Amino acid sequence: MTKVITYGTFDLFHEGHYRLLERAKALGDYLIVGVTTEKYDMERGKLNVVDSLPVRMENVRKTGFVDEIIIEETLGQKISDIQKYHIDIFTVGSDWVGVFDYISDYCEVVYLERTKNISSTMLREQRQHIQRIGVVGTGRIANRFVPEAKLVSGVSTQAVYNPHRESAENFAEKWEIEAYSNAEAFYQDVDAVYVASPHETHYGYVKAALERGKHVLCEKPIALEKAGAEELFAYAKERGLILMEGIKTAYCPGFEKLLGIAGSGVIGSVRYVDACFTKLESVSNRELTDKKYGGSFTELGSYCMLPIIKLFGHKYEDVRFDAVHNGDGLDIFTKASFVFPRGIATATCGLGVKSEGRLLIAGTEGYIVAEAPWWKTTYFEVHYEDPSRVDKYSERFLKDGLRYEIKDFVNMINGRNNSDFKLTRGDSIAMADIMERFLRQEGR
Ligand code: CTP
Repeated sequence: MTKVITYGTFDLFHEGHYRLLERAKALGDYLIVGVTTEKYDMERGKLNVVDSLPVRMENVRKTGFVDEIIIEETLGQKISDIQKYHIDIFTVGSDWVGVFDYISDYCEVVYLERTKNISSTMLREQRQHIQRIGVVGTGRIANRFVPEAKLVSGVSTQAVYNPHRESAENFAEKWEIEAYSNAEAFYQDVDAVYVASPHETHYGYVKAALERGKHVLCEKPIALEKAGAEELFAYAKERGLILMEGIKTAYCPGFEKLLGIAGSGVIGSVRYVDACFTKLESVSNRELTDKKYGGSFTELGSYCMLPIIKLFGHKYEDVRFDAVHNGDGLDIFTKASFVFPRGIATATCGLGVKSEGRLLIAGTEGYIVAEAPWWKTTYFEVHYEDPSRVDKYSERFLKDGLRYEIKDFVNMINGRNNSDFKLTRGDSIAMADIMERFLRQEGR
């Protein structure tokens, strides 16, 4: 008996898939198909798969060509499957020519001609309205956004706004999009807005965009006052618009896993969270010259507060801030200390003082540690009383990692709201409140 194996996502099952399976079956007597899990697809950078795993498996089964369906969940699984199932032929479409030649050490490799003019990507794009995104601001983070958004299906960055015409034009030329220095014209031509302007302007731009019926993804901090954040989220809700704060950490798969492990009980009950992020900035940068809105806490505080808020909630009993200032009175190193009913936490940020930036989560049975840059979580360890026992976890964080939040933003716009737990409006409002307390203490 000749056993054949093939693998794929088989999202939005189409004729190309059908023809591939038909020919795969014809190569032998017994066909096994490996269908990828959502998590594995995410890891290999395939975002926005529409159909769930059971639906994709059912569609493969319904062709009638398949004798056995298995799940593909990790990189490197193919070789072990081939040995485990005593496979004679491995086959995939011709879009993969060369990629799987290494498998010929284990069995025959056959590349089948790919069916022309059809793909899941094409179908995904046809079935959803492509969200036209406009970027407000032309700085460093805006420049990271555009290439990341290109990797997410269902969005197209089309416009950039900056009141300074020349900055808008330079940015637009670089990314081959439209430049606007007239805000009204800009809002009119887009469906959704990404706000990446200086902190103090976030509130105004978010409000203006919402008033014009646009969904908004806003860089952190979304607002520097609790009332402002409350107002924006209430308004978005009332108008049925998506408003999301862009703290990339909250949406990256590694951080999601870390929170899952922390909450799973393996380290017992969480009693202490210590999050530190320092990044030395040049003294001439905006972050260290803007006396009203600059400084380490407004710049990095959102990242450090995030794990604290996610693990302990919003109801702290006390928060105090201690800061080291530069000659202009701007905080170059800040420590926020929280007391919660169930534990304590510290958020430490620095722009002019360097420290070991790590995230430590201590519990009654053990602790989790993620080293810098934990805000782009790729690796963390779980330690216990017995020092010889260490569990290690890793996840991918691709390039600048904005693709994860952009994907969740589009999904939410399209009514697939299964990501809104990652950073809730309550979380964002709590963080705006803490920012406000800090700025008040600083006399700003
Ligand atoms: N396939 C094919 N012809 C097509 C599309 C896919 O023969 N027009 C094959 C692929 O080469 C692969 C299998 O079908 O062997 C499953 O592919 P999958 O990646 O799930 O489908 P795509 O349509 O290529 O998906 P995407 O657009 O998301 O990459």
